Amino acid sequence: MELLKAIQSRRSIRNFKSDPVPDHLIKELLEAARLAPSGSNLQATRFVVIKSQGERMKLKECTPLPFVAHAPVVIACCIDKGAIANTMARYKELMEAQAFVGTPLADDATLIEAYAKRRSSIDQATIKAYLTLNAAIAIEHIALRAVDLGLGSCWIMMFDSAKTKSVLELDDRYDVVALLPIGYPDQSPAARPRVPLEELVIKEV
Ligand SMILES: Cc1cc2nc3c(=O)[nH]c(=O)nc-3n(C[C@H](O)[C@H](O)[C@H](O)COP(=O)(O)O)c2cc1C
Repeated sequence: MELLKAIQSRRSIRNFKSDPVPDHLIKELLEAARLAPSGSNLQATRFVVIKSQGERMKLKECTPLPFVAHAPVVIACCIDKGAIANTMARYKELMEAQAFVGTPLADDATLIEAYAKRRSSIDQATIKAYLTLNAAIAIEHIALRAVDLGLGSCWIMMFDSAKTKSVLELDDRYDVVALLPIGYPDQSPAARPRVPLEELVIKEV
């Protein structure tokens, strides 16, 4: 499907058919997430794929929205807070991949080292916000690829992150930042309201 068509036809789907989502399609969704860009190429977004009925029903304790647990697949989207320690290693990979050719970063390792050092003293809340921003890109890649594959999804942030982490028995280095129920849509909603284009632009200078 053409990208513009996928962007235009995506909707938040809150009613799914019970048909299972084949594993090869779930793999395609995760591949779309894997290809997402991330700051410093940190790649700190991780996923728990919840397919079993038993595990999905446990999510009922985590969100007031019953349709989440009733989707055939729910992807719990997580950030790996430990990944921040990989900053220098990821930069090194980027340098080896010639990503910075033609920029000051290509020849001056001290620029990167100073940046990585500064980052190591940043507070946890800022790091979490940064990793969540990165996760959002990967999550939206999944949402758009889902449309492309005839599937629907709905971003969910109305959930108890700590409870979900506990239900999923996740290590402390992970935080769950969104749930993404996925399945074949059992509804075809009209486009939801959007502000006009003129309202989007604060100014052109
Ligand atoms: C970050 C984020 C969080 C959201 N959280 C929820 C949620 O908790 N529950 C829900 O029903 N929809 C949630 N949504 C879906 C939005 O309500 C929806 O995107 C918006 O109303 C526009 O509708 P559309 O996605 O169909 O275009 C969320 C969307 C985003 C991007």
